[in-house]
This record gives sequence, C-alpha cells and structure tokens, in this order.
Amino acid sequence: MTFAYRGLATVGLLIAAGLPAFAQTEVKIGYALAPDSHYGVAAQKFEEVLKAETGDAFEFKHFPSSGLGGEREVIEGLQLGTIEATIVSSGTLANFVPDTGVFDIPFLFRDLEHARAVLDGPIGQEILAKFDNVGLHGLAWGEQGFRHITNNRNPIHTPADAEGLKLRTMENPVHLAAFNAMGAAPTPMAWPEVISSLQQGVIDGQENPLSVIVSVKLDEVQKYLTLSGHVYSPAMLLVSKPFWEGLDETQKAAFEKAAAAATEAMRSYVDNVETSGVETLKDRGMEINALSLDEKAAFQESISAAYEGYYETYGKDLVNAIVAFK
Ligand code: PAF
Repeated sequence: MTFAYRGLATVGLLIAAGLPAFAQTEVKIGYALAPDSHYGVAAQKFEEVLKAETGDAFEFKHFPSSGLGGEREVIEGLQLGTIEATIVSSGTLANFVPDTGVFDIPFLFRDLEHARAVLDGPIGQEILAKFDNVGLHGLAWGEQGFRHITNNRNPIHTPADAEGLKLRTMENPVHLAAFNAMGAAPTPMAWPEVISSLQQGVIDGQENPLSVIVSVKLDEVQKYLTLSGHVYSPAMLLVSKPFWEGLDETQKAAFEKAAAAATEAMRSYVDNVETSGVETLKDRGMEINALSLDEKAAFQESISAAYEGYYETYGKDLVNAIVAFK
C-alpha cells in the first residue's frame, strides 16, 4: 500500500470509529549518535522546522545511538519504506550510489568551507539527486568535520607509526584503500560494534571527526589522538523514496526547508566542536598531537598509490574539478 493510500485508510478508520478525521503521519528518524551530538541537534531542528511549517501533520519518533541498527541497515529500511528518515555518514553511501565515494578521497578538501561549497554546488547536488534512482531521496548534505585517528598503541607522527595498526574503518572502499596503502591494518566494521571492539582490544584504534570523538566520549576507550585531518566526513539527510512520493508539493517544500535548517544546525555544531573539541579531550585526559605540515605531507605521499585507483574509479577530471572548486 502506498503512503497516500495508507493515510486515506487511516482517515477512513477514524471516521468509522467516530473520531475526528485527522491522522498524524509517523516519521521514524534513525541515527548512529546521541541526542546531544551533531546528528541529534540536526534531527531536532528538522522536526522543529517541519512542525512550524506543517502543524501537527507529522509525528516524529527519534531513534538515536543506532537504535534502529547500523547505518547500512537503516538505509535499507528506508528503501523498504519501514523507516522514513535518517542522518548518516558517507560510510556506506557508496554502496547505494557509487559516485558518492569521490567525497571520501583523503586530502581532497582544503577546509570545511571548501567542502561545503562543493557539496552545496553543482557537483554535490548532482550526486545527491542520484539517490532518487535507488529508492531513496537525498534532502541535503550535512557534515561531521575532518576525521582524525585515535588509538591505544602509540602516538602517531609518521606513516611508520601507523604500521600494522588494527584500525577500524567505515565499510567504505575509498577509506580502506587509503589505510592499506599507508601500511595500517584496516578493519572495516559497522559502528555499533566499535566501542566493544575497542574495549576488548580486538582493534587498536579508529578514526572519526572531533564531533564524534567528543560526543561519544571516545576518550574513555582511547588514549592517543592524532589530529591528522586525513579526510573530510560528509553526512546526508535522507528520506525513504516511497515516503517522499506520498507527500504533496507543500509538504515536500516543508521537508526541504526543514532539511536546510537541519544542515545549518549540524554545521554550526561542527564549527563549535572544531574549536573547542581539542581542549575538551585534553581535559578528559587524552594525549594529543597535531600533524605538522611536513608530517601531513608524508601521510599524503604514503597513500599516493591509492590515488591512482581513485582517478580510475571517479575520473581525474572530476577529482581535479573538486580540488580546484572555489
Ligand atoms: O565512523 C562512522 O561509522 C561514522 O562516522 C559514525 C560514527 C557512525 C557517524 O555517522
């Protein structure tokens, strides 16, 4: 039954029961992080603006902290129409729309401003539109910030320090290729398994932006933080295509407005944590080093072999166009 038919059926039942003919549509929104994270803040803003635009037409049910499963499972739920919305990292997005992987290439973006301009510009929007071909609808790009390495083995200054490090990566072939080229021992793993794997010593480390390291309190299970900023981490606000197709034009416009506000809230959270996060983690006892420009260049050099593969997959012209984008 389509979303529109379901709505009509509910109204019919209410009338038959002698109740007012007003049905709220449920929006289950799942995300991997806590309510006070950048995802939680964005999801709350999304609901708030949608409510202001549509009154009580939609009832939100939040499932933070992977309450509906890992990111891949949640996206599959959207395709099936059993979950309406999500905010996810780019971790598994390339499994659904392979072109998204281009934004996961390490050392691609100069800074947050550069990444935001590309994602909000024609290159990012063209890729966002491709989600409509796979049972999903991309409402907006969000972000997590630049990813950094945490671990329990040793401080990392050079690629040699990461040699053989059992490092959890997202289930993302672009990241996997980079860490393999660097000489680490990358272990792709769904997020819900990461904390227990760190606690049990199954893996030595992981990599995520400050937004995640701070909000998840990774300092409780990780000793060293290396500010490597090796890759920008985009996020996406997605809805289920069957759900999207059941909305009328006014409702679609309200969802788009709410998604834009959610992205703004997410980026503003990231701006704050990028400034305050290092001090917070120092206070919590982490041993932190920032890569110098020379050290960073050595990491860039260590993954040059992976770049050949990226050019082959995504096209050198596209990669260069992203790098040159102002
Ligand atoms: O590392 C990941 O898988 C993601 O960055 C996370 C923490 C699930 C947020 O989307």
